[in-house]
Amino acid sequence: MLKIENLNAGYGDVQVLWDVNMEINEGEVVALVGSNGAGKTTLLYTISGLIKPKSGSIKFLGQEIAGLPSEDIVNLGISQVPQGRRLFAGMTVKENIMMGAYHRNDKEKIKEDFDFVLELFPRMKERLNQAAGSLSGGEQQMCAVARGLMAAPKLLMIDELSLGLAPLVVETIYEAIERVIARGATVLIVEQDVLLALEQANRAYVLDVGKVILSGSSQELMDNPMIKEVYMGI
Ligand SMILES: Nc1ncnc2c1ncn2[C@@H]1O[C@H](COP(=O)(O)OP(=O)(O)OP(=O)(O)O)[C@@H](O)[C@H]1O
Ligand SMILES: [Mg+2]
Repeated sequence: MLKIENLNAGYGDVQVLWDVNMEINEGEVVALVGSNGAGKTTLLYTISGLIKPKSGSIKFLGQEIAGLPSEDIVNLGISQVPQGRRLFAGMTVKENIMMGAYHRNDKEKIKEDFDFVLELFPRMKERLNQAAGSLSGGEQQMCAVARGLMAAPKLLMIDELSLGLAPLVVETIYEAIERVIARGATVLIVEQDVLLALEQANRAYVLDVGKVILSGSSQELMDNPMIKEVYMGI
């Protein structure tokens, strides 16, 4: 579904990603892990079109998308739940969630999807008219995931879902995402919590200082002594 080849990207003269290769098949859940500053968010931004790559290829469903404007990439079916949630604090929960569907005009399907995300996150249903800025951290993350789903993405990318949240809330949100996955969604999860990421994913890539240093099935990585020592502290 997504195939990244020899991708180089960064900010101005500062190169962050070095010759990144990565592949995501339809229906897969893939994790991207690595320490602070490894370049995980930069890679998601490059896929979303928010950063133009210096070189390399990003193919989505066979089409080259490297360098396309981000609106085009959303329209093709890639949606990102950004690190730090980035909600519009002064707008209501409903307005924030509906923002995910701004580029769509299939009214009936939008309504169906809206009902589905409210069923996934009943807490959002109770708070539709509340300002998003007044939600708890966990609720804000639910709102951000709900917004991401309203884009009806073929590929959903989630950046640091668990950051700053209590384990129970994280579990609730991942349970909701599992239901989305069960419906056939393809998901790229970025997490600093490597164990959590590997538990969710079929396969994973380890990014270190902008380079993919390791990839494999989640089980292979969980059994890898270097991963255990460096990323899981075991
Ligand atoms: N707007 C920017 N301008 C210049 N450099 C940036 C910018 N955003 C990020 N960087 C740099 O790019 C590198 C990778 O950052 P990135 O946010 O992609 O890492 P990350 O793996 O997502 O880290 P974290 O786990 O902390 O979110 C860092 O060295 C960072 O300082
Ligand atoms: Mg990041």
